[in-house]
Amino acid sequence: MKPSSNEITRPIQRRSFLGGIAAGIATAATPLRVHASASNDEVRIAILGAGGKGSQLASYFAKASGAKVVMVADPDFQRAEKTAALYQAKAVKDLRKALDSPDVDAVVIATCDHWHCLAAIWALEAGKDVYVEKPLGHNQWEGRQVVRAAAKHGQIVQLGTQQRSDPMQSQIREFLHQEKALGDIQYVQANRLGLRGPVGKRTSPLPFPKDVDQELWFGPAAIQPIYRNQLQYDWHWDWNTGTGEMGNWGVHILDDVRNVAYQDSQDLPDRITVGGGRVGWNDAGQTPNVHFALLETKTFPTMIALSNLPTRPKEKSAWAINTASSPDAWPPNAPGSGYVIACEGGFFLGQRGNGQAVDHDGKVIRKFHVDANMITLHVENFIAAVQERDSSILNAPIENGHFSTGWCNLANVAFRAGGAFSQEELTSQAEVPEWNRLVNGMTSHLTEYGVDAKALKSCPTLAHDANTETFTGANSNEANRFLRREYRHGYEIKST
Ligand SMILES: NC(=O)c1ccc[n+]([C@@H]2O[C@H](COP(=O)([O-])OP(=O)(O)OC[C@H]3O[C@@H](n4cnc5c(N)ncnc54)[C@H](O)[C@@H]3O)[C@@H](O)[C@H]2O)c1
Repeated sequence: MKPSSNEITRPIQRRSFLGGIAAGIATAATPLRVHASASNDEVRIAILGAGGKGSQLASYFAKASGAKVVMVADPDFQRAEKTAALYQAKAVKDLRKALDSPDVDAVVIATCDHWHCLAAIWALEAGKDVYVEKPLGHNQWEGRQVVRAAAKHGQIVQLGTQQRSDPMQSQIREFLHQEKALGDIQYVQANRLGLRGPVGKRTSPLPFPKDVDQELWFGPAAIQPIYRNQLQYDWHWDWNTGTGEMGNWGVHILDDVRNVAYQDSQDLPDRITVGGGRVGWNDAGQTPNVHFALLETKTFPTMIALSNLPTRPKEKSAWAINTASSPDAWPPNAPGSGYVIACEGGFFLGQRGNGQAVDHDGKVIRKFHVDANMITLHVENFIAAVQERDSSILNAPIENGHFSTGWCNLANVAFRAGGAFSQEELTSQAEVPEWNRLVNGMTSHLTEYGVDAKALKSCPTLAHDANTETFTGANSNEANRFLRREYRHGYEIKST
């Protein structure tokens, strides 16, 4: 960002990376520019991670007014070079080069999940603003450290949950809560019923691609042999680097639910009950391809159902869910990728970019759609906040993103802490009839695959304390182990 006339400087302890890393953690007293009002300044962006999302975001930042892509970092250097060439930007392997560069004002983190928080914290220590992709935390503890670091360093941090910038959302909130057009909310059924396939199961480890820097790619994660067929993208399905479908699509959908149904009044769920498994496939992936969770709050409950399996083996259509008390009562167009808010007077059906309210006979009461590109709006919102030095105008401020990510992280923890499947245990502690119907639906869906429910795992209800961000009570010791990870030497996240 070019210095502006009304810029003031103050000396801070600013961390230097590449020089500093070799010598441990070095700090240097460097003047950091503090922008009283910098609205005419161009924000110079480094894209960290040049895969599918990073290269897409580079194109959005490049065309946004007030921003310029100046650097692209990826240990898969061909990817960095390819994206950088499109914007006459500099390509680097090591993201710390971007953090050390005085020519970079803000970073866009679109790496694999396991790098999000460390990259964000390093960037904040280096005086950069941060746009970080979802999920914020690969585990819940590290997300909280980012929230603290953002406050400590006074920087702008936005999560890449672009649906927060869709103007449609405030219209839906108005309709549901101020107009109370459908009456009280009874429960929410969130779904991501989207097909995926197995990732392969090699008998010998995947040779690490020679053009990718292995040390940098794994970063904070353990360097482990990989038995799937490809390195990139399918890291999502390995707990070492990814967070499964729950941390992938789950974050978008549960973020919408927190926003639209709860109006952000519920930070994290109070009770979590989970079942799921990786079934029907024989591959090297670890995260569940069928995952269902009951997330109870002080008001109405939310259930989420994820399945990557089609209706029946070899079919192309995704499975559908009905949690209504009678089969006819469920709306016919319930989204397979979205959520249903069941209300006294009908249903609200929400999905990315669209929503509609229907009555109990399925008659459409109102449709919602705003003809706008939500990624453009989300990127512009971040740039405006950076230029104005005003976090309060962010549409997806980082603590909110930490909470939405948390609904998913806690559902993942419950899965990982779970044991042998017990339908009785799953349903007996939860007094939510729709949950019982969901569990029955999930298990009968699997019989089409010849999968016995015993192939699944389940976790009896866990209680969670939002103040300490830990589980309490029965089974909490086992669950709390998964709230944080072991970091590889040189890539540790410290408590902030
Ligand atoms: N907001 C959305 O709608 C949306 C959509 C897709 C993906 N995402 C998120 O974006 C992230 C990236 O997903 P993707 O689909 O692009 O995956 P991808 O596998 O295509 O790309 C990830 C890239 O990160 C790189 N990387 C790994 N370590 C790095 C490091 N130290 N520095 C820089 N780059 C590093 C990898 O080499 C790879 O090129 C994920 O966290 C995903 O959840 C968000």
